[in-house]
Amino acid sequence: MSIEKKHFGLLESGEDASLFILCAGEFRVTLSDYGATLVSVFMPDGRGGRDDVLLGCSTLGGYTGKHPYFGVTVGRFANRIGGSRFSLGGKEYPLFANDGANHLHGGLKGFNTFVWKAESSEGTAGPSVRFSRRSLDGEEGYPGNMDVSVRYTLGKDGALSIAYEAQTDAETVVNLTNHAYFNLRREGSGPILGHELSLACSRYLPVDGGLIPKGEPVAVAGSAFDFTKPKTIGRDIAVAGGYDHCYILDRKAPGLMEFAEVKEPVTGRRMTVATSLPAVQLYSGNFLSGVAGKRGSSYEKHGGFCLETQLFPDSPNKPSYPSCRLLPGQLWAHETVYRFFA
Ligand code: BGC
Repeated sequence: MSIEKKHFGLLESGEDASLFILCAGEFRVTLSDYGATLVSVFMPDGRGGRDDVLLGCSTLGGYTGKHPYFGVTVGRFANRIGGSRFSLGGKEYPLFANDGANHLHGGLKGFNTFVWKAESSEGTAGPSVRFSRRSLDGEEGYPGNMDVSVRYTLGKDGALSIAYEAQTDAETVVNLTNHAYFNLRREGSGPILGHELSLACSRYLPVDGGLIPKGEPVAVAGSAFDFTKPKTIGRDIAVAGGYDHCYILDRKAPGLMEFAEVKEPVTGRRMTVATSLPAVQLYSGNFLSGVAGKRGSSYEKHGGFCLETQLFPDSPNKPSYPSCRLLPGQLWAHETVYRFFA
């Protein structure tokens, strides 16, 4: 087990961005303090080598430029807020509309665009880096100073834990996730449509043309959205019009629940996902189209899949959804574990 820190690059602001390389057992994960980002996930290939199964950029310039949120920490509010506004305590908060009329992934300068403070440590659970920052009152229109941290820990069994904490000094809304895109064959190896997915989610949220949930959850049974039994992501994708939907976990109790399993048939690689959050956005990389990737590769439509654990999209405007409100004195604490099996 080890952690190595390297220079990643210099930002226009003069700030330095670093990389943190965590090794545990046969797994190697790279993180950056720029955006508290997951940069690579190397898994054994069974022939003494390793493959990176995470889509991303090879340079800091890739991450500071326009990219589809590769591996970043998304906040203050992940996913969409309809009409780019919400009300809290009788006051309306307008937000930046960066996705048509809607607000997406925290707006113009979301959590992914800042250099976070980083502290690394090596404990019994494995090498770990904790990123933290203060999101100021009014940042991107959100009320309250919010202290937020994200701790990544890599276990030698291939379990990558991402643990979030947030606290505020005024009533606000919060929804944090990681926007990792995976391709278990190898990043840049083509579409993920042959990956087999199962989700312990018997309901999902149908959406309107702007991808805002229309209302109450609907049963997946008998539809293209049904992954309660394993099937390839590609099998019914044409019928679904590409997956970019929020699924609700079939929870029996609070705490970490393993809800997803993905198998890649060519390599035999597998991953599971567990979370303490109530929902997950299944995104099948529908909008990837000639996006510059690592080592000069280009990512095309369906070149990666995301399982973004989170609260429900547009929950600031949907009182019947699990609450995204955070009050002074409360601790927002959630954890997601991606576990990789070679
Ligand atoms: C959204 C997609 C979006 C992607 C990249 C996902 O979380 O649901 O609609 O294109 O992020 O921004």
